Amino acid sequence: MLSYRHQFHAGNVSDVFKHTLLSRLLIALARKDKPYFMLDTHAGLGLYDLEHPWSQKTAEWRQGIGRVWARADAPEALQPYLDAVRADNADGHLRHYPGSPRIARRLMRADDRLAVCELNKDDFATLKTVLGNARHTAIHNQDGFSAIRAFLPPQERRGLTFIDASFDQADEFGRITRSIKEAHARFATGTIAVWYPLMAPSAMQAFARSLQAAGLPKTLQLELTVHPDDWTEHIRGSGMVIVNPPYGLDKEARPLLDWLWQAMSLEKEGGTRCDWLVPE
Ligand SMILES: C[S@@+](CC[C@H](N)C(=O)[O-])C[C@H]1O[C@@H](n2cnc3c(N)ncnc32)[C@H](O)[C@@H]1O
Repeated sequence: MLSYRHQFHAGNVSDVFKHTLLSRLLIALARKDKPYFMLDTHAGLGLYDLEHPWSQKTAEWRQGIGRVWARADAPEALQPYLDAVRADNADGHLRHYPGSPRIARRLMRADDRLAVCELNKDDFATLKTVLGNARHTAIHNQDGFSAIRAFLPPQERRGLTFIDASFDQADEFGRITRSIKEAHARFATGTIAVWYPLMAPSAMQAFARSLQAAGLPKTLQLELTVHPDDWTEHIRGSGMVIVNPPYGLDKEARPLLDWLWQAMSLEKEGGTRCDWLVPE
């Protein structure tokens, strides 16, 4: 049973955090001429209308992309992501928000290959329209976790596995940990980026410990929240674990996340984190 619908949350603080990091990962992969592969296991709709009643209902995007997209002083490293958002709002009015597969395809080069999975049939149908006939792009109506077995390792031998699950099922952190281990076992040199929501401190510590015990290579852990620790209204913030991050991402990400936090946190609550979970 799929209950999660990203339309309610598109463009929120977590999306800005997640897609900023996604853009930096893809730019780093494009430093070498050789084509790369990206697997997006949980793709969503691909493009969101912020005037849709579900977006209007939560208005989450106003605190996220709404506070960032028109800032003239945004750091250089944020520009590729912001350009991707601007490309879908060419008239200068923020109405549409691109999801991970659309941002990715925009930043990928013609010969880089993208495979995306979306299990929800309706969302899959929309996604097919949104990505259209993009070259070297395969769209699958299948379980993204099983896609790790189906598509890794890629023939390119370089690339990114991007896991952005819905966290609407029990033991999602356990499933994520097993998927990271599996992706790494199948494609040891690839980068794996996994988004997660910030839950109770005990759950977060258990997640960190399970990853540290998993025998992974260098792994970075980044987080951003604009709410205090005792926030319970909706998700407090989110994080991303990046196995085999590109060289220099830690130094690049720290000021970038701090800038985003300043821009999106009006109350100056919460903060950012960028630590090695498994050191270099
Ligand atoms: C958080 S949203 C994805 C957002 C998207 N990655 C983005 O950044 O724009 C999660 C999506 O995964 C889909 N989904 C849920 N379970 C899935 C599964 N096992 N395999 C693939 N997709 C799944 C949901 O329908 C939802 O659209």
